[in-house]
Amino acid sequence: MTETLDIQITKTTQPRLQETDFDNLPFGKTFSDHMLMVDYADGEWKNFQILPYGDISLSPAISALHYGQAFFEGIKAYKHEDGKVVIFRPEKNAERFNRSAERLCMPTIPEDIFVQSIAALVDIDRGWIPTKANHALYIRPFMFATDPYLGVQASTTYKYMVLTGPVGPYFSKPLRVKIESHYTRAAQGGMGFAKAAGNYASSMMPAKKAVEEGFDQIIWTDGSNHEYIEEMGAANAMFILDGKLVTPSTGDTILKGVTRDTVIKLAQAWGIPVEERKVAVAEIIDAAKNGTLTDAFGAGTAATIAPVGSINYNGEEFTLSDPLTREFSQKVLKTLDDIRYGRAEDTYGWNYVV
Ligand code: PLP
Ligand code: COI
Repeated sequence: MTETLDIQITKTTQPRLQETDFDNLPFGKTFSDHMLMVDYADGEWKNFQILPYGDISLSPAISALHYGQAFFEGIKAYKHEDGKVVIFRPEKNAERFNRSAERLCMPTIPEDIFVQSIAALVDIDRGWIPTKANHALYIRPFMFATDPYLGVQASTTYKYMVLTGPVGPYFSKPLRVKIESHYTRAAQGGMGFAKAAGNYASSMMPAKKAVEEGFDQIIWTDGSNHEYIEEMGAANAMFILDGKLVTPSTGDTILKGVTRDTVIKLAQAWGIPVEERKVAVAEIIDAAKNGTLTDAFGAGTAATIAPVGSINYNGEEFTLSDPLTREFSQKVLKTLDDIRYGRAEDTYGWNYVV
């Protein structure tokens, strides 16, 4: 950190913590008592405020609503048994936040300001961090354009905000996934690598169709020929193939996941060969048929390590091994949890202490 951030704090007079049911936390529906709101105008970030969570008033003409100049991040905070509070690798999210900002012609935020502002909010609502297994405080930073102007051009004013809320697991069972061979999530030269709101908007109709067909998630494929695997819903796709960790290399079309990077670093430390490269659909299907695909999972902040139970490709279904018997993903999940919940030494320096 360089210097201490000056944040104006207004505490809620109506805390909701006591009446919140921590045994029933569907993802993304419960919000902590406070939120962070910061304005960008005249070329600078100003007016840092932590205030009670609640509605805000905006012009209906803001360009975020019309042209989608908006993006977000997803991070988690954990509470250790001794009460210590940590945020998992927030500096990686700061990097990606700024990559998204640049692609969407929006202002960047210095990494230390991003991390400190989030830590200040988490600190105020530390009572909201669940301690149950597989639970965490989900942190949702986001930025959107606020010029009330209907011309298509980059806004000159923005808001950077952060919400937090306690969450349980995003997925509760192994996923039945469909390899998408019609719709496309992202194109070369597009903004698939950014966490742009519009990327999620365009995924909703195909995802809804997939759910109607009985699937839990889509495995996205490349926009040219649907020949190569890209991502798995809102997570990166990872496989153990012939004993190697194989995952699509990131580029224009694939989000550079923090969880993906974490899994790769663990695999490398364990001496498991890692291949970041193009992954052909045909290769995965062949491996599922001949038994060399011994593990498959989505890796993401909300998803954590989400095992794939079966893969459907053009109507043909391939059931994989029982996720509980899979050596790699089970070991990754346990190692990650031990670090995040403070049961093992954080030798990688991944936990940012609040
Ligand atoms: N890919 C997409 C499209 C996502 O929305 C996410 C979720 O954040 C990820 C990958 C995984 O990224 P991370 O591990 O940083 O959460
Ligand atoms: C996350 O994992 O943080 C995500 O952004 C997924 C989200 C779209 C639910």
